[in-house]
Amino acid sequence: METYKTILSKLDVRQFDSKKVPAEVKLKVLEAARASGTGNNRQEWRFILVQEKETLKKLAEDSTSGGWVVSANFAVIVAAAPTPSFHLIDAGRAVQNMELAAWEQGVISGIYTGVKDEEMSKDFAIPSTLKPSTSMGTSSILRS
Ligand SMILES: Cc1cc2nc3c(=O)[nH]c(=O)nc-3n(C[C@H](O)[C@H](O)[C@H](O)COP(=O)(O)O)c2cc1C
Repeated sequence: METYKTILSKLDVRQFDSKKVPAEVKLKVLEAARASGTGNNRQEWRFILVQEKETLKKLAEDSTSGGWVVSANFAVIVAAAPTPSFHLIDAGRAVQNMELAAWEQGVISGIYTGVKDEEMSKDFAIPSTLKPSTSMGTSSILRS
């Protein structure tokens, strides 16, 4: 699918089916995040793949506005260094790239930003220099 069509047809979804997303799709999604540019080319960030049922449950509990992630097939946490202040732009760009890379392969997703910083950092061993900024949850659907 051409990029423009992928962008225009992407919706944010909060309910997912139980189909498994193939590992190669997950790898492409993570690679899309890794390839995203950062301010000052600092790349001071980590992407954490969450794909076990129990850890997805934990991720949902550590959120204030993304409880729906519990039904995702997998999720990716984006944690970035909070200074300089453009880390949220970096994180947003990475998520957008991941979502579009996923959608191009027929995998739909949603983003959420309400995270309980302390709980999430502890549960997912996020280094103290980084701050959990956002997460996205995905699963496969049949695309029309
Ligand atoms: C910066 C940002 C933060 C968001 N935070 C949340 C969130 O915390 N929880 C949530 O369910 N959706 C969140 N969303 C998803 C938006 O609500 C969604 O993009 C919007 O409803 C449009 O959806 P649509 O493209 O499917 O119409 C966020 C989106 C953006 C861009």
